Amino acid sequence: MASDESIFSRSFSEYELKKLGCVALTICFITTFSFCTILRQPVLKPIYNLSNSRSEVLELNGDIRIHGSSSTIFVASNLLQEDSHSNWTLQPYARKADVFVMQYIKKWSIKHHAAGIFPICHRNFSIPAVVFSTGGYAGNQFHDFTDLLIPLYLTSQPFNRTVLFLITDKRYSWIFKYKEILNKLSKYEVVNIDKKSQVMCFPKLLFGLKSHKEFGINPSEFPYHSINDFRNFLRNTYSLERETIDDYYSSKQRPRMLIVSRNNTRFLKNEGEVGNMARGLGFEVVVREIEQNISLVAKFVNSFDVIMGVHGAGLTNMVFLPDNAVVVEIVPFGLENLAEPYFRIPSKEMKLRYLEYKVSLNESSLLGKYADDSVVYRDPGGLQKKGFLRFRSVYLDNQDVSLDCGRFRDTLLQALEILKN
Ligand SMILES: *[C@@H]1O[C@H](CO)[C@@H](O)[C@H](O)[C@H]1NC(C)=O
Ligand SMILES: *[C@@H]1O[C@H](CO)[C@@H](O)[C@H](O)[C@H]1NC(C)=O
Ligand SMILES: *[C@@H]1O[C@H](CO)[C@@H](O)[C@H](O)[C@H]1NC(C)=O
Ligand SMILES: *[C@@H]1O[C@H](CO)[C@@H](O)[C@H](O)[C@H]1NC(C)=O
Ligand SMILES: *[C@@H]1O[C@H](CO)[C@@H](O)[C@H](O)[C@H]1NC(C)=O
Ligand SMILES: *[C@@H]1O[C@H](CO)[C@@H](O)[C@H](O)[C@H]1NC(C)=O
Ligand SMILES: *[C@@H]1O[C@H](CO)[C@@H](O)[C@H](O)[C@H]1NC(C)=O
Repeated sequence: MASDESIFSRSFSEYELKKLGCVALTICFITTFSFCTILRQPVLKPIYNLSNSRSEVLELNGDIRIHGSSSTIFVASNLLQEDSHSNWTLQPYARKADVFVMQYIKKWSIKHHAAGIFPICHRNFSIPAVVFSTGGYAGNQFHDFTDLLIPLYLTSQPFNRTVLFLITDKRYSWIFKYKEILNKLSKYEVVNIDKKSQVMCFPKLLFGLKSHKEFGINPSEFPYHSINDFRNFLRNTYSLERETIDDYYSSKQRPRMLIVSRNNTRFLKNEGEVGNMARGLGFEVVVREIEQNISLVAKFVNSFDVIMGVHGAGLTNMVFLPDNAVVVEIVPFGLENLAEPYFRIPSKEMKLRYLEYKVSLNESSLLGKYADDSVVYRDPGGLQKKGFLRFRSVYLDNQDVSLDCGRFRDTLLQALEILKN
């Protein structure tokens, strides 16, 4: 026993697999009984293809062997020999239609044992594993939630923390930033799988993360999960106090509004003036940039009744708002097509109330930059279809806004009205 345990500890870094020391001991006992256990379970197919238009997801069962440093997963299955598609290359990042980002995601081969050698196991695990990438757009908070955290929740929550995360394209800052969430979903330290030259063997492995829609959960696909289950999970993870605004607002305090300040692109140039107007209408206003420490951000955002900001990743923090809070999205010129799927639809599903303020050309820094009859003014939708990079450069990366307070006042009055009901 003692020597088994020491072999185990040496093969993984202290940091990564500290907690698995105990599991190693348990496995020594469990391996003896695993044959009986497998026989008692309902018959599982070796491979379930759970892929869809957003992500590649395979559920692999039985004898699964993963060799990290060659990015290969071996599946023991006689059934597969009859399947002509039994040698696949897949990428575990939930944005498969985005050709641009997918070129940065590691490609994995899934092979059945007859396709070549079936490597011997250096480590046998009795717990399931999930393989996913923290590359791609990870680091942008909107994508952190829509491409990684919501899909990871859907994929791993059923295991009740008894699941090992095997991370490819490891990004340490991402793992550190969301450590509280990772810890709620798995009781083990994550494994940097790309570095593993030893073969790790699992009875079950999920390759890729389940995902069905932008910044949300499709209830018809996941009848036992909604985005509000996820929001409850976040409240629990970050110990957020306010579930709904109702009690708070009836206490006659001034409703609190957070103006999300952006400091890089898409500035709200007159945010001071907008803030003062909102104060004049009765709001308690805080103008603030969103910082990195998500556990502090979650508590901070949860204390507000209204979040307002220019279209961008900062608005993702609406997930931490109490139910019935109001989201005011400032939609810069030309970005109408992005507002709907990214924030309008998701906010409604999150039991939030959504107000949209469309910036007119005279409130945009794009005015005067191009010829009067430029396609930039005439047909943003057309430019978007022609290619995202140019579209992004024109409308997302090089446009600031300055709101017409007279017109914007109406939107804030609507927000007040909504809060009263
Ligand atoms: C899994 O199913 C998806 C969607 O039906 C399909 O596009 C894909 O090729 C399949 N993948 C494998 C590995 O069979
Ligand atoms: C499996 O795919 C890889 C790369 O796609 C290829 O190099 C290899 O020859 C294939 N093996 C079989 C048995 O088809
Ligand atoms: C893992 O399990 C297999 C079969 O169950 C066994 O042959 C092998 O020796 C085990 N490896 C280790 C390192 O325990
Ligand atoms: C999940 O695990 C905890 C303890 O680890 C246990 O108390 C709880 O009943 C489990 N939940 C489910 C649904 O199995
Ligand atoms: C965030 O701040 C809290 C309180 O200062 C601290 O305990 C926590 O470790 C920080 N989290 C991260 C990821 O930096
Ligand atoms: C703006 O953002 C950068 C990081 O992108 C940060 O280092 C800097 O402190 C921010 N500036 C202000 C005024 O907050
Ligand atoms: C800006 O344009 C909007 C809509 O086109 C219009 O309602 C508003 O009066 C204009 N504001 C100014 C200051 O010209």
